[in-house]
Amino acid sequence: MWYLRKPVLLAILVSVVLVLVLLYSWPTCAYNTADLWQRLGATKERHLEERLPEPDTRLSSVPFQIRKSVSDLLERNGCVCEAETPVENLHFDQLLFPKLPAQSLHTASNTSELGKMKMRRAKEYKAFQQRPKTAADTLIITKANNPLQYPTQGVEVRPLKTIIIPGLALHDLPRDHYTINITATLGTLNVAAEVEGVKIKGDGGMHMSLSSSLLLNLNRQLQFVTYTNTKYHPNTADTVELETEGHQAAFSIKIRHGVTPKLYDTGPQEEYNVSKFVTIATKTFLRYEKLQKLIDSIRKYYPTVTIIIADDSENPKTISGPYIEQYIMPFGKGWFAGRNLAVSQVTTKYVLWVDDDFLFTANTKLEKLVDVLERTTLDLVGGAVDGGTFRQTMSIEPGEDDGDCLHIRRGFHHVIEGFPHCVVTDGVTNFFLAHTDKVRQVGFDPRLNRVAHIEFFIDGLGSLYIGSCDDITIDHQPKVNQPPGSQTYNENMYNMFRNPSTFSDSQNIKYGLMYFKNRLQCQTRN
Ligand SMILES: *[C@@H]1O[C@H](CO)[C@@H](O)[C@H](O)[C@H]1NC(C)=O
Ligand SMILES: *[C@@H]1O[C@H](CO)[C@@H](O)[C@H](O)[C@H]1NC(C)=O
Ligand SMILES: *[C@@H]1O[C@H](CO)[C@@H](O)[C@H](O)[C@H]1NC(C)=O
Repeated sequence: MWYLRKPVLLAILVSVVLVLVLLYSWPTCAYNTADLWQRLGATKERHLEERLPEPDTRLSSVPFQIRKSVSDLLERNGCVCEAETPVENLHFDQLLFPKLPAQSLHTASNTSELGKMKMRRAKEYKAFQQRPKTAADTLIITKANNPLQYPTQGVEVRPLKTIIIPGLALHDLPRDHYTINITATLGTLNVAAEVEGVKIKGDGGMHMSLSSSLLLNLNRQLQFVTYTNTKYHPNTADTVELETEGHQAAFSIKIRHGVTPKLYDTGPQEEYNVSKFVTIATKTFLRYEKLQKLIDSIRKYYPTVTIIIADDSENPKTISGPYIEQYIMPFGKGWFAGRNLAVSQVTTKYVLWVDDDFLFTANTKLEKLVDVLERTTLDLVGGAVDGGTFRQTMSIEPGEDDGDCLHIRRGFHHVIEGFPHCVVTDGVTNFFLAHTDKVRQVGFDPRLNRVAHIEFFIDGLGSLYIGSCDDITIDHQPKVNQPPGSQTYNENMYNMFRNPSTFSDSQNIKYGLMYFKNRLQCQTRN
């Protein structure tokens, strides 16, 4: 057996050595672009689009019938925010089916200002759209009966490195002579080994031609084709074109670094310690009595969990104690700025968000929330505050130049398997546990300085995977309604900031951000 396998082994060994030699002796990068704006040229893109199959005119005479139930599901060109019309003839219908308010979001006071704002928004949006676009997003359609074999997807190369392109082959087509042309744009092509009877032209360049009168040899040669990325531009893709007489194909090679992991060591399993998993973050403003009650309630159940407090009070009072960190901010810096600061200082895998007037109870089981995140792919899971989960689903309908339409509805998508009390949704209450890194990625927009909450979830839609469990609860500290005269200076001040007489200003900031930053034109809610 051994003498039979020996040549095979030898061949493998030789090719491995060859690849290694090639990898080390490769002429490194004639070009070095780190310009994130550089894309595959417009001509190249146009060239690819021209390959779309020609519409067959005979097809237009074939009759068809539209299936309305399905075609209505297709995205329309543009979106509308319409208040849902109530059912007529019913006295109490307004109560049962209250008309959904449709809220237009732009804050411009006249049309000329609105027009200018729209232009600025359109410019930013265009730049935003271009950034993540790569050749891997280009539509490629494979023609029928293509004798070319190639990888349709899944080929990846690290920036400036070399790979063997897997799966290249040419099938059937009895001919005297075979030629395959391979073309790349962000890198060069070569062969890791030469096969007898195959002529190689353009190796080491962006356009390589392989030809032979022997199909078998050509196919053997195709197994050694390498691609080397030469233009430094991570998170893009190269479209490689493949051509033989009368047939073409194109596929993409993704160019990217591996994702650098950020892992947290939570200690050995047998010594489970929730303090190693969770940090509690809160933001306070002038309400030290409430904050103290919260801390006391936390310490009753979790004596060693770190508590991070962001504080933008006017005359900050020091909060001391073991496992407490207080960060003083400029006076009145605001709600989301405080959330951001607190979250930025967390060093555990998870962060628990609570408001400073919450109260831990025996049912505030952090271990249960940790368990949900450990055993699912969720990024964030909310509990219930005074029984309320504030579950919201969201969808954004693409609009045209006016912007998109946001629809927010109470509810959830589906129950999480294995957790009968938990559901998947898009927005939850102010009491939630989340992967620290994921929350930081979305961030709390510090421009939202007073009343804000759902805005974080709007920013996170599409990147945060959210759950909500109603069996893990926290309480609100009871509201004490004192007569105005007996309120302390801080209470007065708090109320002034929290319920600003300039409430419409705070609403305007919110709408303005949704309009410009999120490029929405309107929202509907129930
Ligand atoms: C429109 O509003 C802007 C800003 O509020 C103001 O500067 C401008 O003069 C207004 N234009 C007209 C035509 O009223
Ligand atoms: C391959 O490319 C060469 C130029 O490099 C061209 O002359 C030839 O026609 C091409 N062959 C095919 C099959 O596309
Ligand atoms: C849990 O971890 C905290 C801080 O990391 C530590 O102070 C505490 O002693 C630990 N508790 C147990 C029971 O090991």
